[in-house]
Amino acid sequence: MQKPKLVNLPKATRYQNAAIDYYMGLTDSVYLHYGYWESLPKKGEELTLTSLRVAQIAYAAKLLSFIPEGIKTVLDVGCGIGGNAAYLCDRGFIVEGLAPDAIQQEKFIKNTNGQVPFYLTRFEDFHTSNSYDLILFSESSQYIAAVDLAQGAARLLDNGGYLLLADMMRFSAEYREGIFSNCHVASELQGALEKAGFQLIKTEDISSHIAPTIDLCVDNFQTFGLTTGKYIADVLAIAVPPLYALLRWAFQRWLEKPIVEGLAARAIFDNHLCYSIQLWQLSKKV
Ligand SMILES: C[S@@+](CC[C@H](N)C(=O)[O-])C[C@H]1O[C@@H](n2cnc3c(N)ncnc32)[C@H](O)[C@@H]1O
Repeated sequence: MQKPKLVNLPKATRYQNAAIDYYMGLTDSVYLHYGYWESLPKKGEELTLTSLRVAQIAYAAKLLSFIPEGIKTVLDVGCGIGGNAAYLCDRGFIVEGLAPDAIQQEKFIKNTNGQVPFYLTRFEDFHTSNSYDLILFSESSQYIAAVDLAQGAARLLDNGGYLLLADMMRFSAEYREGIFSNCHVASELQGALEKAGFQLIKTEDISSHIAPTIDLCVDNFQTFGLTTGKYIADVLAIAVPPLYALLRWAFQRWLEKPIVEGLAARAIFDNHLCYSIQLWQLSKKV
């Protein structure tokens, strides 16, 4: 297989891409977002990947419900592997996508049947003579600095153009280290968008409708990930004790802390974050 073309990415983006690849492998879905669980699972109900895939389609429909009448052209920023783009394309929108990941590029082209142009770039480096009616950030805003996002979107839109953003956000800047700490502080993002000339048209907090996906990922990681890891460790301890000792040391040194944190993801989300869908309109170019 041809090796995907590399773009020059900062280390943080490479870590994020690794996490996205893990999610891609786990879900085997065309979407990379958390989905929208329309009816919330009952206490003790088993969460399945099949239900997650249903939730992911419901999320695409939820995004669609935020798109105002008359919108034709959409730039899908951080488009992932094409689920949202294909969904919108099937409903008559003219879509273009961009993301800084060559593996996603291959899958995007396949999942959109080569019908949707893809740009292999970060949003910050994207330049075009095309203009768009709406710019979509579906779980990609957290990877882009608030000022770059706001000013970049304002540059690509005409007056009256829309920005649709759906993502996790932090309540406050006090939570600053750990798995979700790259998410924007909601008030800071709002400030940057207002400063760039955007006005909030519609917003909805869907935190409780995405949270089951966090539970599902933690459950799967605990059941399959950790159990498999422990089995391999047990076998190594019997077969190659020195290698076991070395890996055990490396695990305690580098992996234990992030794993413990990952297992607490739901509590961290509940305590520090929310998940919001926001429709903004550019009311004046500044
Ligand atoms: C969680 S995925 C969401 C994918 C897709 N929007 C979806 O909803 O399924 C985040 C996406 O943002 C992209 N991304 C990360 N950094 C970016 C940047 N600086 N500019 C544009 N996209 C970026 C990732 O490569 C990935 O495609």
